[in-house]
Amino acid sequence: MPFPIHRPRRLRTSAAIRSLVRETRLDPAQFVLPLFVCPGEGVKREIGSMPGNYQMSVDQVVEECAEVQSLGIGGVILFGLPEEKDEIASGAYADDGIVQRALRAIRRETPNLLLMTDVCNCEYTSHGHCGFVQGEDVDNDTTLEWLAKTATSHARAGADIVAPSDMMDGRVSAIRRCLDANGFEKTAVLAYAAKFASVFYGPFREAADSTPQFGDRRSYQMDPANGREALKEIELDLEEGADMIMVKPALPYLDLIRQARDRYNVPIAAYQVSGEYSMIMAAVRNGWLDCERAMMETLTSIARAGAGIILTYFSKPAARLLG
Ligand code: PBG
Repeated sequence: MPFPIHRPRRLRTSAAIRSLVRETRLDPAQFVLPLFVCPGEGVKREIGSMPGNYQMSVDQVVEECAEVQSLGIGGVILFGLPEEKDEIASGAYADDGIVQRALRAIRRETPNLLLMTDVCNCEYTSHGHCGFVQGEDVDNDTTLEWLAKTATSHARAGADIVAPSDMMDGRVSAIRRCLDANGFEKTAVLAYAAKFASVFYGPFREAADSTPQFGDRRSYQMDPANGREALKEIELDLEEGADMIMVKPALPYLDLIRQARDRYNVPIAAYQVSGEYSMIMAAVRNGWLDCERAMMETLTSIARAGAGIILTYFSKPAARLLG
């Protein structure tokens, strides 16, 4: 007869005891802030659906990175908006591409900040798909060559970690081989291994100007209904040499973060994506949710599910709060 001997409320009686028994703690060092680099100088344009986040020219991104470092945030992940888009995503792997230029500039000013890059083509193609379009389809194996070139040019420009987000088959091994062949065997690969075809990327596509001009991404990103297949995708990326894996989006896929954590002995990242951020901010702006609490509760849940690394647009306010 458990009651009244067992009274779990005992351990909730004061802030001090709640803190003592808390199972999950957040640390700014586990956050990664996504940044959108655009052409120009002195440009800092707020993204309408993502208040507090901006498209920034290289000089502004450099300043932002100094602040990120001073807040103790784990690192940044860069996305680029090129001057021009074309059919073959040449801006993605150009040595003087927008992300490559940003990497060099950030490295100069904040040499110790951890720099990640998103490796994908959708921001660089005129049609907004993540690879080489043939007919109505994205051709897998041609796209692999672009991805490998892009990752290698990011490494050359100073990226510590490259993160392929395209969901082509075989991209991790294509990237790993190209990196190694060019002397970048120390550059790590964080694979967006279980990336779902999600409605929650909507605001990002405005931010990165990467909405597909026809069709959608369901022939390469995963069906939200498929959990077992997500584990298979993770396994394949690990076999191909991924150092870390990611589940994306985060909150709708906490079950997969947990399963991945239990199964694989590598660092697990989760991406709290644009739509997850925008939903909270929209409710906050309406006075329906408390911003700090919604931010910390969602981040804590993602960590509790098993993600050690969290890519989040809340990195700065959360780091300030954890102070
Ligand atoms: C590039 C990419 C996307 C996101 C990260 N990398 C967009 C997409 O796949 O359509 C989404 C990130 C976010 O929503 O915050 N392929």
